[in-house]
Amino acid sequence: MSASLEVELAGLKLRNPLMLASGILGSKVSSLNRIARHAGAVVTKSVGLNAREGYKNPCVVNWRCGILNAVGLASPSAEDFAKELSKFEKNCVLVVSLYGSKPEDFEKLPEHFPMADAFELNLSCPHAEKLGLEIGRDPDLVKEIIRAVKSKTDKPVFAKLSFHMNIVEIGKVCEEAKADGVVAINTVKGMAIDIVSRRPILSNVSGGVSGEAIKPIALKCVWDLFEEISIPIIGCGGITSWKDVVEFVLAGATAVQIGSALFYSGHIFKSIEESLKSYLRIYGENISDLIGQAHKV
Ligand SMILES: Cc1cc2nc3c(=O)[nH]c(=O)nc-3n(C[C@H](O)[C@H](O)[C@H](O)COP(=O)(O)O)c2cc1C
Repeated sequence: MSASLEVELAGLKLRNPLMLASGILGSKVSSLNRIARHAGAVVTKSVGLNAREGYKNPCVVNWRCGILNAVGLASPSAEDFAKELSKFEKNCVLVVSLYGSKPEDFEKLPEHFPMADAFELNLSCPHAEKLGLEIGRDPDLVKEIIRAVKSKTDKPVFAKLSFHMNIVEIGKVCEEAKADGVVAINTVKGMAIDIVSRRPILSNVSGGVSGEAIKPIALKCVWDLFEEISIPIIGCGGITSWKDVVEFVLAGATAVQIGSALFYSGHIFKSIEESLKSYLRIYGENISDLIGQAHKV
């Protein structure tokens, strides 16, 4: 009987549609190797040309519907990160997430990472000045960045988008610039205030909300993109169960990324994989048969 979880994403074969979202497990390859045993792909922490310290603590706050973070893209330099990633055990597809402030930064990055199977462009971090969202909102810059990276690599290039932009308009720009797919979405702007000190908790004041709270928002972004673009969509935001994965695929996602849920369960990839197989067996379908099915009238 069918019930295959395998998906094809821009020419890459993923054993299942489950991807580790960028930044969740920091910049150590041992964490990626552990998740890679059950994931279809892992995405690294975003990396730029030079090392970045990020914001002071507190930069990650737990709250009842997920997580609030303003890490500030803390990461080693591309050169140091490439040394670390050379220890990746290749048990699944490896996507290296890149950040920069201009096309000239982005285009210098792919050559550092021969071990990457694909690249993800962080055009959507909501809490880093002159990076991420600040550039991802500018359609001309998005086009230039994608073209610059595509001119330096033959590997698939995905653009990671945000709720805080005209996501459909930027999605179309990505398609025009020949991106191989889009990721929707990064964290949603938010904050928390400590009622004793009466001050914002995050050192950066403002951060990004992830986890369950943003799932309906992310799902709608995937839905809207699927209506308007033809390149693959990778859904991300608030996925905590196999049912969430099915919803995202029905809305139009070819694959999904899981982030914050890992803070609560280290085995989530394995358990979602098994539950998805059981669900598909009931219907005798493959996961790829479900992509975008909710749009059919
Ligand atoms: C602590 C933390 C660090 C993150 N770092 C990055 C990053 O470096 N690059 C990036 O594109 N997204 C980063 N994200 C966003 C996630 O990749 C993901 O888009 C977001 O958390 C929504 O997914 P989730 O609800 O499953 O966590 C980070 C999120 C968290 C919680």
